[in-house]
Amino acid sequence: MSKNTVFRKAPVFENYKFHQKWIKECKRILKPNGTLIITGTYHSIYICGFILQELNFRILNNIAWYKPNCTPNIGCRNFTASHETLIWAKKDSNSKHVFNYKDMKYSKWEENNFKNEDKQMRIVWAITTPKPFEKIYGKHPSQKPLDLLKRIIIACTNENDIVLDPFMGSGTTGLACKINNRNFIGIENNIEYFNLSKKDWMIIMVKNGIGGANTKTGLAFEGEKELYSFFKKQENYEIKNMIGIHNLKRNDAFELFYMGEHVANIFKKHAIYVYLERHHNLNWNYFLSKKLLPDDSIFVYKNNTFFVIEIKTQNVAGSVDEKLQTCDFKRKQWQKLLSILNCKIEYGIG
Ligand SMILES: C[S@@+](CC[C@H](N)C(=O)[O-])C[C@H]1O[C@@H](n2cnc3c(N)ncnc32)[C@H](O)[C@@H]1O
Repeated sequence: MSKNTVFRKAPVFENYKFHQKWIKECKRILKPNGTLIITGTYHSIYICGFILQELNFRILNNIAWYKPNCTPNIGCRNFTASHETLIWAKKDSNSKHVFNYKDMKYSKWEENNFKNEDKQMRIVWAITTPKPFEKIYGKHPSQKPLDLLKRIIIACTNENDIVLDPFMGSGTTGLACKINNRNFIGIENNIEYFNLSKKDWMIIMVKNGIGGANTKTGLAFEGEKELYSFFKKQENYEIKNMIGIHNLKRNDAFELFYMGEHVANIFKKHAIYVYLERHHNLNWNYFLSKKLLPDDSIFVYKNNTFFVIEIKTQNVAGSVDEKLQTCDFKRKQWQKLLSILNCKIEYGIG
């Protein structure tokens, strides 16, 4: 290419040099079986795709993140941009990358109307742009939604892995890592965005949670405190998914073993009802007018006790107090529902 051509193409070429530099650095520090995900629009994604191939990465997928709530096209002279591309690549063709296939296939992806229940996760993901609660501590112009980062982290990494986001913005990747027990390193050259992410989102959320049953802040907290993650980390305990036993959905119901002995069953939300129906032929309709949905519950065989756990994280006045007042009533409701098991009920708010 002549010097003149390079000159005319300078912005693209500069872009190329910039992307090449950081992608090379990522390749240098990536563990042999590590993978890289790059997100972008046409302004940069084709250049990055070219560089990945130039540097002998092996491309695993290109994913279309479709934004159902994209902003309208004001100019009305072309189609409305409504997606970004994610390129997922491994270090080279020999590396053995992580792909948590079953988590993708069986987990609940409630907002993704392109994902059919218990069917394989495809490469078109419908996820809305960041929700208002994700922006309450400040705005970042190109912030990614937490749901998108959670899906990436769960799909491509294992617990305790180290994840690096070299352009971390307001820190969504870090939050997704924290919720899913991954270690996180972030780099950001804008101090305002850095300060946004520096605040520990989890703590901020717990302290300033938005009241109400639909609080997303509570959900973030649940991710950290759920029984499954807790027991996974305890020595001598083993957790097995009940999928295949009662045809329950993966990640909803588990058997808990202590030194090889089956000591308890853990159920999340609706799973307890599926279990009661399949295992005890018990239909909740006969006992309750409305389903009670525990965040977590555990039936401990040893002391024949069913523990119902509701996780509430708000420090704002009212919310937890209100829940506490309903405890006794709910405990009695559970007693009615589970009378067939003749077990004790303990009801707690964490
Ligand atoms: C697309 S945003 C990141 C979004 C973020 N990863 C998320 O998940 O919400 C890109 C970020 O990279 C930062 N950035 C740009 N050039 C950088 C550089 N050379 N070093 C570090 N950060 C940079 C920008 O300030 C911006 O916050």
